[in-house]
Amino acid sequence: MKIDILTLFPGMFDGFLSESIIHRAIEKGAVKINIINFREFSKRNNHQVDDTPYGGGGGMVLCPEPLIEAIDSVRKENTKVLLMCPQGRPYKQEKAKSLSKESHLVFVCGHYEGFDERVRAFVDEEISIGDYVLTGGELPAQVICDSIIRLLPGVIKENSSEQESFTENLLDYPTYTKPQEYRGLKVPEILLSGNHAKIKEWREKEQRKKTEEKRKDLLN
Ligand SMILES: C[S@@+](CC[C@H](N)C(=O)[O-])C[C@H]1O[C@@H](n2cnc3c(N)ncnc32)[C@H](O)[C@@H]1O
Repeated sequence: MKIDILTLFPGMFDGFLSESIIHRAIEKGAVKINIINFREFSKRNNHQVDDTPYGGGGGMVLCPEPLIEAIDSVRKENTKVLLMCPQGRPYKQEKAKSLSKESHLVFVCGHYEGFDERVRAFVDEEISIGDYVLTGGELPAQVICDSIIRLLPGVIKENSSEQESFTENLLDYPTYTKPQEYRGLKVPEILLSGNHAKIKEWREKEQRKKTEEKRKDLLN
């Protein structure tokens, strides 16, 4: 998979690209990520990319030309362009799964007061990572990229992502490791039994119980 990220703040991606599973995925060649500063596409003095809003109001709005020209420069036949936007469709695991099947994704990160409304005509989808407003689209782009990259073949052990929260609208079952007892809290006996059929049954029951307690909305 190839990912292009259009941003005014490339430095915000340094840690994301150089640590842990994402770094290993890049090293293995499972994903290729380019960070593009769309300021380079500005033809104004000092590569200015924002301006005051027509009609008045506070803050600065990203001008359409640098963003749209940056999109044009990377768009190919099978490209999907995703606009990071609090007004977009709320992001879900199901969407991570479908995006992980794409071959080329472009993330457009807004900043300041957001972008000129005309930018929307040049993207394929608008995605929100939740009902709150962040200073920029860089963190949403990292959240979404992370959730997609971990699903690419060979990035994490296949069975780790087969059974986890939000698969079949359930939360994950409780997990334990050593020691068997800590501060009086014991690992459930069933997990020490070696009886795999019973363990499976217990885990399924616990998944339903947890979902019922914490996220009843998922069951509807
Ligand atoms: C301060 S926000 C602009 C908010 C915009 N004025 C509004 O009220 O809808 C700046 C940029 O951060 C990004 N952003 C902020 N919150 C987001 C969210 N919940 N999901 C995705 N992107 C977000 C978007 O790229 C947005 O253009």
